[in-house]
Amino acid sequence: MSALFPKTGTAVSLAEVRTHNTSLRNLAPGLVAIFVGGTSGISLYTAREFARNTTSPIIYLIGRNETEATRITQELKTINTGSTISFIKKDVSLLKKVDEACQEIKEKEKKVNLLFMTIGTMTLKGRNETPEGLDQKFALHYYSRMRFIQNLAPLLTTAAKDDDPKATLSRVVSVYDPFLGKNKKPNFADLSLKKNFSLGACAAHASAMQNFTLERFARLYPQTSFIHEQPGAVETGLAKRWAMKPLYVLMKPLLVEKKESGERHLFASTAPQYAPKAKAGEEGVVVGADGVKGSGHYHLTWSGGADGDGKVAEELRKDGAEEKIWTHTEEVYKKVCEEGGKY
Ligand SMILES: NC(=O)c1ccc[n+]([C@@H]2O[C@H](COP(=O)([O-])OP(=O)(O)OC[C@H]3O[C@@H](n4cnc5c(N)ncnc54)[C@H](OP(=O)(O)O)[C@@H]3O)[C@@H](O)[C@H]2O)c1
Repeated sequence: MSALFPKTGTAVSLAEVRTHNTSLRNLAPGLVAIFVGGTSGISLYTAREFARNTTSPIIYLIGRNETEATRITQELKTINTGSTISFIKKDVSLLKKVDEACQEIKEKEKKVNLLFMTIGTMTLKGRNETPEGLDQKFALHYYSRMRFIQNLAPLLTTAAKDDDPKATLSRVVSVYDPFLGKNKKPNFADLSLKKNFSLGACAAHASAMQNFTLERFARLYPQTSFIHEQPGAVETGLAKRWAMKPLYVLMKPLLVEKKESGERHLFASTAPQYAPKAKAGEEGVVVGADGVKGSGHYHLTWSGGADGDGKVAEELRKDGAEEKIWTHTEEVYKKVCEEGGKY
């Protein structure tokens, strides 16, 4: 249970979350938010709260399920009649489809305020290779998410530079689990796990590689904050899958309520205490994953606690883990996205 409810940092009370979320009405109208995985679960719960608490939001939902997307679009428009909702239907386990989705966004928007990502799948099967040569689950949890960031980072920076201080929200939230890979050393000789795949290794790699790559993005894009969050146990599409059903039935009393999960994720997506590196000196800013206050990359628990990532990560950091992981990631992107090949 402790893995699902890690104790780190200071938890934020639900009352504080609600007070903050209500204040979002004071932000500028027309904030642009992209929910990658917005057709279900945590992204959907968060999109609801984003629509409820902001003025004339522009919301993109990305997923494959068109029927759900149509229903959700109607629901969000009912919650906020001033909202603009668009659905982009793509299988984003493929990097080329990620590029297409980002291109569609870039054709319509000059800025992005929030990139919120929850794409993922739960399977007990082994390595399931996509036509691009990556494991599908690993692609959804790491390669595709980082590609979304790489493509949309300029639009997030544009948002941060808005002349209106009430429109400068610029944030990436990736909901997965920063703690899974925290004390594990990735297999640097086989980062994509082509030869050494196991479900445990895949989860640890997706977590650790994401931690180091988000740290890199936080340094390269100091006006945007980057959050990697563990959501606790939430009843979502994941819980409906047969392999997970018994676990979620057992955990029923411990589950984070759907609405509360959405509210807490809206807080993580907007609260000033998770400031970008450029605003590290502001009051109340919490400690980043590298142990430095306001470093712009935060590891959060389900309840908003933030803390440094500890000894193993520190050793890996000194050993150049970030560069090794990024060199590998770029190689994958080059082979697949630029050369049209397979990794
Ligand atoms: N829920 C929990 O208790 C829990 C606990 C710990 C960690 N997490 C992590 O939190 C994240 C969010 O999960 P969730 O619980 O909200 O899951 P969910 O309800 O199953 O939502 C997953 C979303 O990903 C989308 N998706 C999956 N494969 C896709 C693909 N190939 N292309 C495009 N979209 C795709 C799905 O949309 P379509 O079906 O429309 O494609 C859906 O909207 C996951 O990374 C999960 O590992 C969840």
